[in-house]
Amino acid sequence: MTLGDSPALLSLRLSAEYRGKGSVLRGVSLDVAEGEIVGLVGRSGEGKSTIASSILGLLPLKGGKCNGRILFQGRDLLLSKDKEMRRIRGREIGLVPQSPLAALNPNLRLRAQLDEAWRAHQSGKPDWKPLLASVSLPAEPSFLRQYPRNLSVGLAQRFLIALAILHRPKLLLADEPTSALDSITQAEILDLFGSLNRRYGLAILYISHDLASVASLCHRVAILHQGAIVECGATAEIFARPRHEYTQRLIAAIPKPPETHNQATAVRFEMESKTRPSATPVESSTV
Ligand SMILES: Nc1ncnc2c1ncn2[C@@H]1O[C@H](COP(=O)(O)OP(=O)(O)OP(=O)(O)O)[C@@H](O)[C@H]1O
Ligand SMILES: [Mg+2]
Repeated sequence: MTLGDSPALLSLRLSAEYRGKGSVLRGVSLDVAEGEIVGLVGRSGEGKSTIASSILGLLPLKGGKCNGRILFQGRDLLLSKDKEMRRIRGREIGLVPQSPLAALNPNLRLRAQLDEAWRAHQSGKPDWKPLLASVSLPAEPSFLRQYPRNLSVGLAQRFLIALAILHRPKLLLADEPTSALDSITQAEILDLFGSLNRRYGLAILYISHDLASVASLCHRVAILHQGAIVECGATAEIFARPRHEYTQRLIAAIPKPPETHNQATAVRFEMESKTRPSATPVESSTV
């Protein structure tokens, strides 16, 4: 796995299992360089969230355990004490989870959620305007007085991203952050991740079961299958020349946009028409 000239921010070699379930990850090897966006792709149940939980030190809470090494800025997180992990979680490594509305506290106004997340690691009272502007949310007091139930899923996801970058972490784990969103909102959130990466040099481990959604965002893609990374490389390279048959199947399963289908049909019809001297206007109009 190559990282170019950038030093590895995160470098893991990981095996994991759950009580009563057995082995889920078998020597997963994955690196994320500083400022890099890496897509971690695999079908449901392949162990993507298990990797995120392991990095955050949350696997024991889920009845799992892992071994190996998780080097973050040179420190092995698997050797870190609970107190140290509480400091790293949220402050140095942010998490954007899958279901935005479920992840927010329904009983707290948005301002109180920002204040609480801030106080978990720092003191003082920051001005929330620049943070909210950076995720394209309104900074008016009336917005911050709302409860999560007043937000659309897209706005809630932007708000969760604001919470995740509040302390300017070096690394963001985004675990299927767009799967609850419609396709237009999904594209907007992907744009937002791209702009946060460029503006702040934020490294992102972007977890998804959807290879198509990582194509526009990620610098590199790692494919997780049967507990191991079976293929990893530059996104364009993986799409152009997938070597592993599981990657080939994932790419083949990407739905074709209807325009492409219509264009292909139109081109095929045009070609067929040219080879059919007797093609009549009636035939054309029925297509
Ligand atoms: N707390 C748990 N206890 C036992 N088994 C679990 C637990 N959490 C996950 N698993 C199992 O571990 C495997 C990997 O789960 P994981 O949630 O990491 O997959 P995933 O790739 O994130 O899937 P999805 O795309 O559906 O989110 C699955 O077979 C799952 O059933
Ligand atoms: Mg998952």
